[in-house]
Amino acid sequence: MSRSSGRKGSLAYPSRPLSRPQLAARLRQARKEDWDYRRGTIFGSMCTQPMEEAVRAARPFVTANLGNPGLCPGTARLEEELVRWLLELFHGPRFGAGGSIVTGGTEANLTALWVARNVSGGTEVVLPRSAHFSFVKALDLLSLKPRWIPVDSKGRSIPHKAARAITRKTAAVIAVAGSTELGAVDPVEELSELALEAGVHLHVDAAFGGFVLPFLKEAGREYLPFDFSLEGVSSLAVDPHKLGGAPVPSGALLFREVKEAGSISVDSPYLSSPAVTALLGTRPSANVAATFAALARMGRSGHIRTLRQVLALTQRIADEGQRMGLELVTDPMINIVAFRHRNPAGVQAEMLRKGWDVSAIREPGSLRFVVMPHVTEESVARMLRDLRTVLRGSPPNG
Ligand SMILES: Cc1ncc(COP(=O)(O)O)c(C=O)c1O
Repeated sequence: MSRSSGRKGSLAYPSRPLSRPQLAARLRQARKEDWDYRRGTIFGSMCTQPMEEAVRAARPFVTANLGNPGLCPGTARLEEELVRWLLELFHGPRFGAGGSIVTGGTEANLTALWVARNVSGGTEVVLPRSAHFSFVKALDLLSLKPRWIPVDSKGRSIPHKAARAITRKTAAVIAVAGSTELGAVDPVEELSELALEAGVHLHVDAAFGGFVLPFLKEAGREYLPFDFSLEGVSSLAVDPHKLGGAPVPSGALLFREVKEAGSISVDSPYLSSPAVTALLGTRPSANVAATFAALARMGRSGHIRTLRQVLALTQRIADEGQRMGLELVTDPMINIVAFRHRNPAGVQAEMLRKGWDVSAIREPGSLRFVVMPHVTEESVARMLRDLRTVLRGSPPNG
């Protein structure tokens, strides 16, 4: 939330419209202050520069509200097609599956838990310590109690601990396919078996990993099963605004049995549809159009090309970092690499002074680099040069 600073002057609401040049200057100034992915200096974000065509696709749709679908049959069809593409990519069943385009991982995870709670009547959620903080918000909003599962040395959920935490009160089990801090992929296959056995909802948070994991084999890595090909997976979240080329905000939520989403349905008497099954009232058609354009122009070959690029650069950072005396927290599973450091916040601050955005992680104390498509060979080389200098003044162990 934004807080009033108490300053006067330009913060007064204009009594008369600003002139066009005044407005343009104000916006230009604000944009200049914001970081720009295209400079290649951002290593701490899970978003990236979207595809230009996707940005352009949004413009004609900014006035349309998919929350009133009767007025937007065109966008509703785009959404339906997008959901079908995604279900095909994630091996969804041919009948009964469905989903929707949302604003991102937070909305997708919250909505998945909302559905799971209403269908099961459960009051607890079994989730790994690596789960994104969006789950903390969702649990609070839905009055659900967390049953936290420890993670192994590679940052993955431990299935036998999850098995012990599942009870009759369990509303859902969460698996993370590409964790926020380490890019770790949980053993979803084992969690799926547990979920099937216990008859509980398994939600896979593939917000980050969803456009990485399907293509690992083509990028020369081992494929890790994580999607609806595993029978116990009930729902899956994936964010096109992370590695799908779409502008923010864009997420997707998919269900094996979309009729379960009826459990969150509310009447919407004044709209063109009698009931809605979405968190948002007004839903931006623009993000559906932009996401459609991004994925249409990306295709499987685009994801594979992007993945090869980011994985190669991730490996380069991993190798060079070790040459500088840094220790990997774990071998990178995808395009995130983290190194142990006794003072990650100090290094982060020094790197920021040199113009780089990198993340500091508290547990385990480490420096984290997310290698997104805006990162180039040249920017990695420059960043590593500065990192070497900073580490001279702040060595990893002492
Ligand atoms: C694994 C994971 N899940 C959920 C989210 C939340 O997504 P959003 O920020 O799009 O709401 C993130 C964000 O980085 C994430 O990494």
